[in-house]
Amino acid sequence: MEIIARSDQVIQRVGQWRQQGLKVALVPTMGNLHAGHTSLVDRARECADRVVVSIFVNPLQFGPSEDFQAYPRTPQEDHALLEQFKVDLLFAPEVSDLYPYGMQGHTQVKVPELSDVLCGAVRPGHFVGVATVVAKLFNVVQPDLALFGEKDFQQLAVIKRMVMDLCMPLRVLGMPTVREVDGLAMSSRNRYMNAQQRTLAPNVYRVLTEIKQEVLRGRRDYAALEQVGFQRLQHVGFETDYVAIRDADSLGAPCESSCRLVILTAARLGRARLIDNVLIELN
Ligand code: PAF
Repeated sequence: MEIIARSDQVIQRVGQWRQQGLKVALVPTMGNLHAGHTSLVDRARECADRVVVSIFVNPLQFGPSEDFQAYPRTPQEDHALLEQFKVDLLFAPEVSDLYPYGMQGHTQVKVPELSDVLCGAVRPGHFVGVATVVAKLFNVVQPDLALFGEKDFQQLAVIKRMVMDLCMPLRVLGMPTVREVDGLAMSSRNRYMNAQQRTLAPNVYRVLTEIKQEVLRGRRDYAALEQVGFQRLQHVGFETDYVAIRDADSLGAPCESSCRLVILTAARLGRARLIDNVLIELN
């Protein structure tokens, strides 16, 4: 595996591949890799001739009181794992490479309809940071295909919309959430939990699944179901940001014609903010 820190060198290397007619897939990450990430790499390998993984903890998507400094950074383990999964190129830039003039005043990409709701309402500026850095990574790597986990459902929706709105010439693929055996969605932030919090964490998926069953049984009083989910999470000890039932394509309120719904939540246990979602196919 080649490891490159400079974006100009990545542009050159990928340019050579493209001249040879090779298809390139990108898996953008912030490192501290787990089975959720390697499932994306596996899929990328099936779809493309060359697989690029980026590891960059993007300061622009963290709020001032968030965990940018504390975010787990495990470069040695990550490199070993990516070697094992036969990644061709690891792009691991410094902040100064992607933000040479700093972040203040940097051009921003905003997907307005999707960025200020749900997690965006609780984390102002977060999705502008995500969309901006992902647009930069796309411009550097110029992939044919980019893969993201469905665990970050709103992020995936923002990126898909950005790609459509800005006519970016690539395909964005969402991949199913990878879970621990007890149902907890894998996440780098799971390590913020202590042992007792970790025993409570699977309740997130349990509660989402219970609400999904109610919808599948025919209930359509979504506001009441959201309230039930919220209260169940609070009851087991979470500080719940939201439980929301939305149209899976627009992230707006479900309407008569919605045929795919998503139930999303963000809930805190101490330092850990867990996000998760389940999809519902109606009909
Ligand atoms: O999901 C992540 O790891 C990050 O938000 C991403 C997409 C790599 C952008 O920094």
